Amino acid sequence: MRQAIISGTGSYVPDNVMTNEDLAKLVDTSDEWIESRTGIKERRIVTKELTSDLAYEAGKRAMISANLQAKEIDLIICATITPDSFMPSVACIVQDKLGAVNAVAFDLTAACSGFVYGIVTASQYIQTGMYQNVLVIGAETISKILDWEDRSTCVLFGDGAGAVVLTVSEKKKGIMVANLLSDGSKQSQLVCPAVPLSNPYNKSVESFRPKITMQGQEVFKFAIRSITEHIKTLLQKADLNIEDIKYIIPHQANQRIIEHAANLCKIPKEKFYTNLMNYGNTSAASIGIALDELAKGNKLEHGDKLILVAFGGGMTSGAVLLEWD
Ligand code: ACO
Repeated sequence: MRQAIISGTGSYVPDNVMTNEDLAKLVDTSDEWIESRTGIKERRIVTKELTSDLAYEAGKRAMISANLQAKEIDLIICATITPDSFMPSVACIVQDKLGAVNAVAFDLTAACSGFVYGIVTASQYIQTGMYQNVLVIGAETISKILDWEDRSTCVLFGDGAGAVVLTVSEKKKGIMVANLLSDGSKQSQLVCPAVPLSNPYNKSVESFRPKITMQGQEVFKFAIRSITEHIKTLLQKADLNIEDIKYIIPHQANQRIIEHAANLCKIPKEKFYTNLMNYGNTSAASIGIALDELAKGNKLEHGDKLILVAFGGGMTSGAVLLEWD
């Protein structure tokens, strides 16, 4: 049977560090408030780079770690809600920069669940036999859609990119089971508008700038429900116990969300890998950055089973259970 295995990982974050103390100079907040409510200490914020720059660096590193040449990549999927432009897609810009001349390229929008949606999409193309090597990137310059005067949202996020290469294997397990959910009825919990109607029938708003708004406590509940239910579903589908899982890599939104979910599922919180203290919530990039950190830190061994679980605007959520090669 054709399975999709992770053959390489990569990540890239901008150099510029913004600490909680730096934020306290911009809005009425404090290091103590941010860390105690979210676990975040600092985040990276771009000064010049575009989403495609971050995506390219992460994608290139994943390609090198998979030991692939650019021309061997068949498909590039970039998960992002902060593209450089409506067109071209970030994936097409990355394709050009990498010289991945044989690749099909498109962007995918599922907010913070985008990386998991991307992995599941890539895995379907591989299982059906259409493609052999797929580069999946999650990349965001989320800082450009933040309201830097709204202390309840601007402290939560950061910029960055994470990537994996998925490759076909006839022998290995790779992506074992997956579960995706979408619930448009909860769309108002997390919103960032695109450009408003502007045509001969509608007045244009020249000064419009899109900004994220969030119903924090509703998102908090949705996130905990998503993590707990997806883990349960995946373990049932794979006929495994939580003891069989080495690490759970959750979307890195908030330490309190992760701890609540761990308590509810009665899973030791050490099983949940987190790095959000250093990067904040990087949306579609967060799981890719965390996975790359684990892989490059030699914390993963052949045969380890991992769960990646994400939740985000839409509302969307999703998870995959995989065996590390
Ligand atoms: N600094 C200081 N005070 C603040 C800040 C801040 N940065 N932000 C909000 N406050 C104040 C509020 O104004 C409010 O003051 P008031 O009582 O005088 O009105 C008080 O703190 C409590 O505000 P709440 O919004 O009720 O704070 P809460 O305890 O719910 O924590 C938080 C807010 C951290 C956002 C929480 O709701 C949460 O974790 N939500 C999950 C959402 C999340 O993590 N989203 C990430 C993006 S979404 C995603 O990735 C899918």
